[in-house]
Amino acid sequence: MIYNFSKIVTQDRNSQKWHNYADDPIVSQMWIADMDFEVANEIKESLINRIQTPIFGYTNVPDSYYDSIQKWQLNEHQWVVEKDWIVPVSGVVTGINLVIQAFTTEGDKIVIQTPVYHSFFNCILNNNRVVVENPLEQYNDYYKIDFNHLECIFRKEKPKMMILCSPHNPVGKVFSKQELESICMLCSKYNVILVSDEIHQDIVFPGSSHYSVGRFKDYLENVIILVSASKSFNLAGFKVSNSIIPNKKMRELYTQKKKQNGPISLNILGLIACEAAYQFGKPWLKEVVNYIESNRDYALEFFKRYSNHFHIFTPSATYFLWIKGISDIFSKQTIADWFLNSAKIRGNKGEDFGRSNMDFIRLNIACRKETLVESLNRVESSLTKAM
Ligand SMILES: Cc1ncc(COP(=O)(O)O)c(C=O)c1O
Repeated sequence: MIYNFSKIVTQDRNSQKWHNYADDPIVSQMWIADMDFEVANEIKESLINRIQTPIFGYTNVPDSYYDSIQKWQLNEHQWVVEKDWIVPVSGVVTGINLVIQAFTTEGDKIVIQTPVYHSFFNCILNNNRVVVENPLEQYNDYYKIDFNHLECIFRKEKPKMMILCSPHNPVGKVFSKQELESICMLCSKYNVILVSDEIHQDIVFPGSSHYSVGRFKDYLENVIILVSASKSFNLAGFKVSNSIIPNKKMRELYTQKKKQNGPISLNILGLIACEAAYQFGKPWLKEVVNYIESNRDYALEFFKRYSNHFHIFTPSATYFLWIKGISDIFSKQTIADWFLNSAKIRGNKGEDFGRSNMDFIRLNIACRKETLVESLNRVESSLTKAM
């Protein structure tokens, strides 16, 4: 191990994750999707280098930036991306808003698979479009896609778009090639544009591998893929992501919508950070994934020991745990409130991922192992008190 993820780091005082609750006594912040770890040195050095030339006017996007994305997708995900397909934008959520505005109109229906990342709901509703849910089905420790229901929705509701979260936040599912091909096939059959948010593509544990829908040559004209270095390398504050749009006409419409929405220029340091991450970040990423995997295994073992209180789903990707409270302890307050009030752990409330998920909590385990162990010890003693 070159990197020390157990190092205690002082969190920035404006960090949303830490600062909003700076006055809380011993609360573990295991909510918003940031890692507690410092970024790779190479990224820091690239940023420092750029700052040595202290002129920060509007910037072009250099060829080397596009090149770094193409190489990353090819080498890490066996996906051949053409330079022209890449449209950099200021964040994946910005990209979701843009695809909705560019390719649907008010009142149109958009399919999502719940439980799912809360911004999917917000983007659809804020743009006056209609959410149509194809709930994922719980199956032991995993989730499955209900393909019959999906096709039924496509046939009856005639949605214009489906937004996929692949790998999936919050349940940590890595979709198989077969599942993805079936989704692409159905979207193509029913004329539904497929938007695949692949922001979590790099945090995948051994035994699983991410497959981009952009690899299906037969469906390239109907898919838009949203990627970013932000989750993989802890760079969310830089607000840079990449929309990959193989269909030329769609790309033009999207770019036009982007221009209508504001300045075309991007965050100068964000571009540097993203390029450096893809060029030099692989060793750091490999170690951070191992570290998170070890946190995941520790937590799985813990929650399975208390299987009369919790049902935990096994994530194959992401740094989230998706946990259902199943005992009477959670009858008077939601599991998320219980974690906060009793165990002093702030997670994300289940209902953030769809209203029917009140009895769930999402925990972010991209933290020091020591923090995880202390936090779970508090869960254990709170359980003992409650019983
Ligand atoms: C699935 C998914 N998409 C998008 C985002 C946010 O992306 P951005 O900060 O680039 O808008 C997140 C953040 O957690 C996410 O989990």
